[in-house]
Amino acid sequence: MAQVLSKMASATLLKTSFLPKRSEWFPGQSSRASLQPHLMSATFTVHAGSYSDELIKTAKSVASPGRGILAMDESNATCGKRLASIGLENTEANRQAYRTLLVSVPGLGQYISGAILFEETLYQSTMDGKKMVDVLVEQNIMPGIKVDKGLVPLAGSNDESWCQGLDGLASRCAAYYQQGARFAKWRTVVSIPNGPSDLAVKEAAWGLARYAAIAQENGLVPIVEPEIMLDGDHGIERTFEVAQKVWAEVFFYMAENNVMYEGILLKPSMVTPGAECKEKATPEQVAEFTLKLLHRRIPPAVPGIMFLSGGQSEVEATLNLNAMNQGPSPWHVSFSYARALQNTCLKTWGGRPENVKAAQDALLQRAKSNSLAQLGKYTGEGESEEAKEGMFVKGYKY
Ligand code: 13P
Repeated sequence: MAQVLSKMASATLLKTSFLPKRSEWFPGQSSRASLQPHLMSATFTVHAGSYSDELIKTAKSVASPGRGILAMDESNATCGKRLASIGLENTEANRQAYRTLLVSVPGLGQYISGAILFEETLYQSTMDGKKMVDVLVEQNIMPGIKVDKGLVPLAGSNDESWCQGLDGLASRCAAYYQQGARFAKWRTVVSIPNGPSDLAVKEAAWGLARYAAIAQENGLVPIVEPEIMLDGDHGIERTFEVAQKVWAEVFFYMAENNVMYEGILLKPSMVTPGAECKEKATPEQVAEFTLKLLHRRIPPAVPGIMFLSGGQSEVEATLNLNAMNQGPSPWHVSFSYARALQNTCLKTWGGRPENVKAAQDALLQRAKSNSLAQLGKYTGEGESEEAKEGMFVKGYKY
């Protein structure tokens, strides 16, 4: 009898006092908050300040059919490495010359909807004195900005890292918006050979979620990028397992931070075997694992999935993207490549003014191939041997 009474009491408690009625839920309130009465008085809504409509529009326009993102947000240190590879010094003038070449490719806006810039470029002019940002806008390309401050060692972890940049982020985002940026990028990394530890995954996810909320409140669509590094000799199943864990945490914390999913873009790694794994995967296998991951972890409210290339060759990245677009998806499945768009272009240029046109053609060719892959219509014909060379570098920093 006592048992029955206690069961009834708990059932009544559940029905009446503890759980809110459906009508009492605030849209977007996380399930944890809904189970904690002391949190009920606060207004938990998914919000992005006064910018909600604009964020949705921006995200949709970046995720438009047949287009993707040109990532050209190499920090000055990374840009220096690129320039060194063609024998150029890392001077502001050389960085300006290269970035001028990139933003002014005639017709680039047909295939490229957004360009991620490093802070220097957001405030930089082209060689003929126009604002880089204005040149992009004239090309119908939306300017974006890398807002993270890079990776540092994560104390208490297995030699893993965390991403800095939350201090002062709100005011930086507001200033970047004033300067013409409409979306942002924050890249953090997860290493499979080093664990990943629960601590590193949690820290990566929390940082991304805080950044996403802050960017949205300041009018910038956050690109959410937890890069699962290619380093390692693990198989594709292991990457899949880690990616599931990472994305589960990222979405959990984004919900906790009231991020509006309609106003974000994702930048995942494709699910591939580790770079040193003996067993290679075909584009069909990469597509199968990656799409399975996306379907399990990414809500359809998210407008666009813009993959990074992560050290794959130019052709490999395009073939994998094409394989993913052989059927319909709830999201726009596209690209946000740096190396897999720029590699041949940079080599073709070689720092010589007389090569600018050929280098621009090379970039346009890659952009067009990836545009076709976004539409699932890329055949891979007529690609150079150079474009098939991988670009994997251990522990790659951006
Ligand atoms: P890659 O395409 O070279 O991996 O660049 C990724 C990136 O994060 C740039 O934003």
